[in-house]
Amino acid sequence: AMIGKGEHRHFMLKEIYEQPQVIGDTLNAFVQATTGHITLPDLPFDLAAIPRVTVVACGTAFYAGMVAKYWLEQIARVPVELDIASEFRYREAPMPEGGLALFISQSGETLDTLEALRYAKRQKQHILSVINVAESTISRESDAVLSTLAGPEIGVASTKAFTTQLTVLACFAIAVARARGTITREQEAEMSTALREVPARAVDVLNHDERLRQLAHDVSEARDALYLGRGTSYPIALEGALKLKEISYIHAEGYAAGEMKHGPIALIDENVPIIALAPNDVLFEKTASNIMEAAARGGKVLLLSDAKGVERMGSKVTWTVTLPEVHAFVAPILYAIPMQLLAYHTAVIKGTDVDQPRNLAKSVTVE
Ligand code: G6P
Repeated sequence: AMIGKGEHRHFMLKEIYEQPQVIGDTLNAFVQATTGHITLPDLPFDLAAIPRVTVVACGTAFYAGMVAKYWLEQIARVPVELDIASEFRYREAPMPEGGLALFISQSGETLDTLEALRYAKRQKQHILSVINVAESTISRESDAVLSTLAGPEIGVASTKAFTTQLTVLACFAIAVARARGTITREQEAEMSTALREVPARAVDVLNHDERLRQLAHDVSEARDALYLGRGTSYPIALEGALKLKEISYIHAEGYAAGEMKHGPIALIDENVPIIALAPNDVLFEKTASNIMEAAARGGKVLLLSDAKGVERMGSKVTWTVTLPEVHAFVAPILYAIPMQLLAYHTAVIKGTDVDQPRNLAKSVTVE
């Protein structure tokens, strides 16, 4: 069937707005409606017996994998290694017997990811993939597939594929934790409840669209932008920077907030907007002190936090966006959405081709 943009000006915006629906669809496949239990399809290997998980992907899917690394380590206490596919496939990494190799890909056709999968297979790893296009090469060559139910994604810059990847990976982390006995039933129930609230909270986040459109006017005047976050907000900062550079052609860098003092702090002045992701989690105070360091050097900071965070830090920064207060576990899924909207509106203001940015392809099947 032909896919249209509906009421939206671009596929990217349509796909951003589809997120509450497709995250909900994806959750329905993994969370039992009555009990809230997370259930995966039957896997041909034992999650409890895995010595290490190796996560490999490209682009936005790689940042989903990076969030998964934090989740799997913290919740399931399993060692995780993570790499981009173009590096992993050639670096001859030793892999432990019985290890799990996890590949994440919207298209299921990215050549570097596919070749990394084949390497992991030769290293006798179990192969699990998180894929959006069910009938794809990576799906076929995997031992098991966890599907994102994002539906077709047309915009070259990935949006709903990313948040549904995060949704699947969150469920996977909980399932691994349960298999390894590292979480209690109560903790699982709490995380499952938080996940099931994500579609409704995503609607709340989308309500900040107009505010983000206004802020995009400031961002669109910049030549460079810096995105900061800690913990699972760090990969979302990287994804935010990727979104902005992909479609607006503004140079952007994502950085771990605590690493700013080792380099990017030298770049800070009033011309480089700093987008700080600071959900009110255990790392909030640490991120807040990095924000203060940036503001003290004349940096104009856009703070994304919840009401408590904005109350605590709002007077110290130039701009704020108050996002819903959510369980720290699901914050990266929700904080990804303002990253998309900010990049989208900035690109529209700059007049670039949002859905088909120059030099980029939706699926990279060559090396
Ligand atoms: C290209 C796309 C990105 C995507 C990456 C990985 O660079 O433009 O949006 O994240 O490939 O693609 P995949 O299909 O493997 O997720």
